[in-house]
Amino acid sequence: MKDFISVLQIDRFFLENVIHLARYLKDQQKSGEREMFLEGKSVALLFEKPSTRTRVSFEVGVHQLGGQPIYIDARTTQIARGEPLKDVARVLSRYVDMIVVRTYAQKNLEELALYSEVPVINALTNEEHPCQAVSDIFTVWEYKRNLKNLTLAYVGDGNNVCNSLIVVASMMGMNVRVGVPKGYEPDQKYVEFAKKLAEEQNSEFLVTNDPEEAVSQADIVYTDVWTSMGDEGEEEERRKIFKDYQVNKKLLSLAKEDVLFMHCLPAHRGEEVTEEVLEGERSIVWEQAENKLHVQKAIMLKLLRLKRGAYGAL
Ligand code: CP
Ligand code: NVA
Repeated sequence: MKDFISVLQIDRFFLENVIHLARYLKDQQKSGEREMFLEGKSVALLFEKPSTRTRVSFEVGVHQLGGQPIYIDARTTQIARGEPLKDVARVLSRYVDMIVVRTYAQKNLEELALYSEVPVINALTNEEHPCQAVSDIFTVWEYKRNLKNLTLAYVGDGNNVCNSLIVVASMMGMNVRVGVPKGYEPDQKYVEFAKKLAEEQNSEFLVTNDPEEAVSQADIVYTDVWTSMGDEGEEEERRKIFKDYQVNKKLLSLAKEDVLFMHCLPAHRGEEVTEEVLEGERSIVWEQAENKLHVQKAIMLKLLRLKRGAYGAL
């Protein structure tokens, strides 16, 4: 596997490897040790949409591994003046060792990856947020240690985060329930893929328009914004459509007592989640945000197939 651009192209083996490597890297970072896996390497971060977490965690992650991150706001490049992505991909490949991309259409990313000679990582598109999904599964694994038979309920908009999450969670044998309004279900392609994985693993997979059915006795309740980047202008309409899908104390009380609340952030308090739940004792959103740093480092190292230091299985 050269690139990491879609959860439809990975398998359980890859996920398990990333989880264990992320644990190793997290321990190493906490103990103040450093292995310069990316010494002498440069990583371009080509972003067409805003970002706080993904951008900073990739930049810091590359730095901590001894490499050079280069943040590129696509609007300040020749892309903004029409330079084709296939040209940009071939040029950047001559300078850097890896390209991390946040863009709109998944097909733009696919084109970039096709023409790039170096690995390309999806840092969010309209269709997917695969680094987020893998990182989130790592977070659940840290809290629960065993993913099989846990029930993850995703409530809200069946968006990019949802598409990636339902596949990765199903791949790890989790029961997945999606509670979304009619017309806002995750993409059929991801639903079919996740369903097939669930059948293979003998786990549950459900898409419902009833948020209470989704959340009932769940181990994890996950939500994301009602209006994603690119959907601007639909905020008012969406606030009305999604109002019964807010994760509040009442909805969360239907889940298991030790439920974990997750949100990829940024959060819109009073919309998809209440202040009380986000800041409440079941919320693990800050640990979740931190783990992006460790998991993205692991993904980069897996793609570069670097072998060095104590971690033989890299
Ligand atoms: N969760 C996430 O991807 O956040 P950013 O948009 O801030 O990168
Ligand atoms: N679904 C959100 C995720 C942000 C990290 C968006 O695409 O805007």
